[in-house]
Amino acid sequence: MSSHAAADRVTALKSGPLRGEAVTPGDKSVSHRALIFGALSIGETRVTGLLEGEDVLNTAAAMRSFGADVERTGSGAWRIRGVGVGGFSEPENVIDCGNSGTGVRLIMGAMATTPIAATFTGDASLRGRPMGRVTEPLAEFGAQACGRSGGRLPLTLMGAANPGPVEHRLRVASAQVKSAMLLAGLNAPGVTTIIEPEPTRDHTERMLRGFGAEVSVEETKDGRVIRLVGQPELRAQTVAAPRDPSSAAFPVCAALIVEGSDVLAPSICLNPTRAGLYHTLREMGADLTFENLREEGGEPVADLRARFSALKGVETPPDRAPSMIDEYPVLAVVAAFAEGPTVMRGVAELRVKESDRIDAMARALEACGVKVQEDADTLIVHGRGADGVAGGATVASRLDHRIAMANLVMGLAARDGVTVDDASPIATSFPGFEALMTGLGARFGREGA
Ligand code: S3P
Repeated sequence: MSSHAAADRVTALKSGPLRGEAVTPGDKSVSHRALIFGALSIGETRVTGLLEGEDVLNTAAAMRSFGADVERTGSGAWRIRGVGVGGFSEPENVIDCGNSGTGVRLIMGAMATTPIAATFTGDASLRGRPMGRVTEPLAEFGAQACGRSGGRLPLTLMGAANPGPVEHRLRVASAQVKSAMLLAGLNAPGVTTIIEPEPTRDHTERMLRGFGAEVSVEETKDGRVIRLVGQPELRAQTVAAPRDPSSAAFPVCAALIVEGSDVLAPSICLNPTRAGLYHTLREMGADLTFENLREEGGEPVADLRARFSALKGVETPPDRAPSMIDEYPVLAVVAAFAEGPTVMRGVAELRVKESDRIDAMARALEACGVKVQEDADTLIVHGRGADGVAGGATVASRLDHRIAMANLVMGLAARDGVTVDDASPIATSFPGFEALMTGLGARFGREGA
């Protein structure tokens, strides 16, 4: 989908206590990967708990375009009959990844070592995002990209006919780039080596192993060295997607800032490469507990209980950024309701997400009466305490689901609520967000409704 539905202007109103269970959707990262790995395997992969948001549905459609048989069999239940490593056929039409950077970058990697051409596009947000970070490393395998200036979409990628194995050190701490390179390495003979100076989410490595590839990970003084033996036969699997910690962040953070709240979010993926927000919240003094810690589908999982809390500002170090990269917008909101400044360092990557998230949150917070400071890779929010945020503003979501949800969470605790000019992007990652929050006691309004 290249454009969202008509703008959906929503106001979050100051709400009473939020209480109950927040059953949040399946993990977006795992969902994209389950579809792609299923498509690259021999046999029938079954996925449960798949996130049925627009981003992931676009990846499902893309996998069909490359020749896989992808079918929905029930709510969150999907079946994929794959074509095997190197078995992708050339799509007949342009691949539209909608809003999804993860979708487009991983799929480019997955086809980069097969001798076919594919043209990729997306919505206005995705067309503005840098693709050179993926196409340049993929060129080391012999893949050729031709896109708009700055390497932006629409872009055509010609897969390499005779790929060789590659040794590549990541220039940005990005799981998307790492995953694109590993997916490309699948169809290159020999051992592909990827070195990541800072650890990023490791779902791809886990899934590679789960589908039968030979992968080793070595922690060295130069970073994590990941070695993949190319041209394995991936075997179809059953994948149970855990619930997304990045989506659970919204009801959990809302509970922390709305007085009297007590919310339980069951079965949330707490993979250490994803859990940075939750550790930060505890440092801020959040009454947040991890109950029932266990393993599900190869990922650590817990039930999160969050209660309204008196919070204090903290400093988040740059090396924590990859483990909470999608959570800074909502952390910025929580920080506004804490006492004292919260300093978020090493967050330059936020500038190239679905929107420039530093700018989007800085402008929204200022409009709601919160003082902020920013530079290229830092955001400082000067907290105003539990009842200190005025709100009363209309803020822009900028085609960014997480900016929309973070600002609606702010409105639930701000004195005069917050209006988001367009909440429709939320459907990319969290369909049912508003219904779930309403079920907990959140109040939303629409003009004329
Ligand atoms: C993702 C990686 C992150 C994250 C995105 C999902 C993934 O992007 O922001 O929402 O599934 O690999 P980067 O790896 O580019 O930081």
